[in-house]
Amino acid sequence: MTRVVLGMIGLGTVGVGVVNLLSQEHHLSLKRIAVKNIGKPRPVKPPCLLTADPYEVIDDPEIEVLIEVMGGETPALEYIRRALSKRKHIVTANKEVLAKHGPELFKLARDNGVTIFFEAAVAGGVPLISTIHKGLEANRISAVTGILNGTTNFILSRMEEVGESFAAALGEAQTRGFAEADPSADVDGYDVAYKLSILSALAYGRFVRPDSIYREGIRNIAADDIAAAQEFGYRVKLVGSTCQFSPDKLSVRVQPMLVPLTHPLAAVSGSNNGILVAGHAVGEITLVGPGAGQMPTASAIVGDTINLASALMLPDFASYFHPAVESEWATTADAGEFVCPYYLRMAVADFPGVIGRIGTIFGTHNVSMQSIVQRGVKEKGARITIVTQDVATSNMNAALDELRSCNFLLEIASVISIFKPEFSNVH
Ligand SMILES: NC(=O)c1ccc[n+]([C@@H]2O[C@H](COP(=O)([O-])OP(=O)(O)OC[C@H]3O[C@@H](n4cnc5c(N)ncnc54)[C@H](OP(=O)(O)O)[C@@H]3O)[C@@H](O)[C@H]2O)c1
Repeated sequence: MTRVVLGMIGLGTVGVGVVNLLSQEHHLSLKRIAVKNIGKPRPVKPPCLLTADPYEVIDDPEIEVLIEVMGGETPALEYIRRALSKRKHIVTANKEVLAKHGPELFKLARDNGVTIFFEAAVAGGVPLISTIHKGLEANRISAVTGILNGTTNFILSRMEEVGESFAAALGEAQTRGFAEADPSADVDGYDVAYKLSILSALAYGRFVRPDSIYREGIRNIAADDIAAAQEFGYRVKLVGSTCQFSPDKLSVRVQPMLVPLTHPLAAVSGSNNGILVAGHAVGEITLVGPGAGQMPTASAIVGDTINLASALMLPDFASYFHPAVESEWATTADAGEFVCPYYLRMAVADFPGVIGRIGTIFGTHNVSMQSIVQRGVKEKGARITIVTQDVATSNMNAALDELRSCNFLLEIASVISIFKPEFSNVH
């Protein structure tokens, strides 16, 4: 087999894993790696020259494939653009750059007869991208739904299993290296939003601008919510989903949800990812596995590189690998149109008729209650937990706004959507 010459930008967590795996692939020759700080001690002996100038990699005419594992939007975007223009194939783990610039980058790749592989950008070691792109090609995908962030899943699992607060569980995730010092990308849902943009492009042909994705993180989830969820037969998970809302709109959301304990997503624990893909022919499939980490992510990068290197021998192969992605962005449905049941936890002043008044306000806004539970009166008032029936988010919000103006309301502590299994299997 002819040797394929590779270049790489980044030799951090993922890059080190890639170097280790590539050492077993003798037909792949890593010629040069660009890093930020060339003098930094490395946990592996670099198998080739390091450089602090990425253009020494990008502009090297012998390098056919650029592995980008530096991350972030800039300057990675510029490096990828330039490499594509120089007709180099890209293998990347960079969800942010693809989610924000996918339409432009895939067009640039097509125009230059090269391709972009990105298995590692979503769900790390779980082969989700190739499953949707190639394995389910005969299907019209109706929904992709799942737990797409291992850090938040670890935090929520830990809150439930050990009874820790959000802050303590986040601290533990940071100590174990699952969460960054600045955890915002994970806990505020940005990371999942980027992944949903990419999954939407594969499933429906158009990327979704990350800022048009409805996004709620898990910072406000309290130990009381985790306990109440269990009592009602649910587990709190950060769920991302993309589905066709109407012929010309997608519904794309990331939000904490109460998932029924009997549903496969409730069983996805620790830092794992779990994704359901529903197609009209296959029905629903579930993929579960490590969504991040050095070796699982390197597995995806090197898997892509091996596939790419084999294909390089075929004439005009790039078009075979191009996902059918359009240059326009997808249009998304208004967040208020989403319909689901809700779980609410609130504290109210303990005087007669309060529950009746809540019922009247909900009725005015077409919110039907499935159950309402009042717990013992504490100094801070009565604690009420409500589960509603299906309601449009706009109606729920209108009812909550009216409640907030009532003198008996002390606090609305939590408002969490409830996951219905049919969300993941709408046809
Ligand atoms: N870590 C995971 O579990 C995981 C999972 C899935 C996807 N990913 C994605 O994989 C990518 C890499 O993540 P990582 O965790 O390996 O990151 P990381 O540990 O922070 O490593 C980043 C690497 O990029 C280099 N770098 C940064 N800026 C550079 C610049 N301007 N020019 C040249 N090199 C530069 C750094 O150089 P120095 O070493 O000199 O500082 C470092 O080697 C990201 O897109 C991330 O989202 C990571």
